[in-house]
Amino acid sequence: MRTVTAVDVSREMLTQAERNLLRFREHEILYVNQSITDLGGSQPYDLIISNAALHWTYPDIGGAIDHLAGLLRPGGCIAFTTAGRSVASEEFDEKISNAIVAVGGTIDRHPFRQRRISPDEATRFCEAAGLDVIEAFIIERATNVAPAEYVAWASSSGRAWTELPGGEASLAAELLADQEEFRVGHWSTLIVARSVQN
Ligand SMILES: C[S@@+](CC[C@H](N)C(=O)[O-])C[C@H]1O[C@@H](n2cnc3c(N)ncnc32)[C@H](O)[C@@H]1O
Repeated sequence: MRTVTAVDVSREMLTQAERNLLRFREHEILYVNQSITDLGGSQPYDLIISNAALHWTYPDIGGAIDHLAGLLRPGGCIAFTTAGRSVASEEFDEKISNAIVAVGGTIDRHPFRQRRISPDEATRFCEAAGLDVIEAFIIERATNVAPAEYVAWASSSGRAWTELPGGEASLAAELLADQEEFRVGHWSTLIVARSVQN
């Protein structure tokens, strides 16, 4: 039997996780509704896995990684994905910013692009936290979508704007203005690292 701690700030996500993990009844699974930055533990963890959540700890992603590293036993591992930054992601975010300005919108003070980190930045955070980085890379996925779909998704997931005088439809139209299809990129920085603390 293993003891697993599942943590998320969203109670709904924990409920969904509980449904997904029903088949692992033989293990002890603790569902903890709090921020990973507040996560404690009476015993150090052998392994920490985090998928697509660390960027939400911006502006102190390094602090969050440091906190998680401190919860590992010596030799314990951490594997995480977080929003990735690359030349292509910067170009994509620039295109979105230009479109927001073109339709008279106001850019958010903390648009999603600021939450992105490259594999090099992630490696620096890990090393500063006493982790030995084993793997650091970025995955890019791209797909064609209707601009309105992208704008609706971006709106509900860390939007880049605070105001769009013409509404979201105006931004969708602007994004489609110079091309037949709107290509959306999705970038994830992945890290596998081991604790070298004594
Ligand atoms: C894209 S979802 C990924 C969910 C899940 N990890 C998965 O792989 O399916 C991002 C999740 O991060 C959670 N989140 C945001 N900030 C967090 C924090 N500080 N601590 C823990 N979870 C957080 C959100 O509630 C959301 O469920």
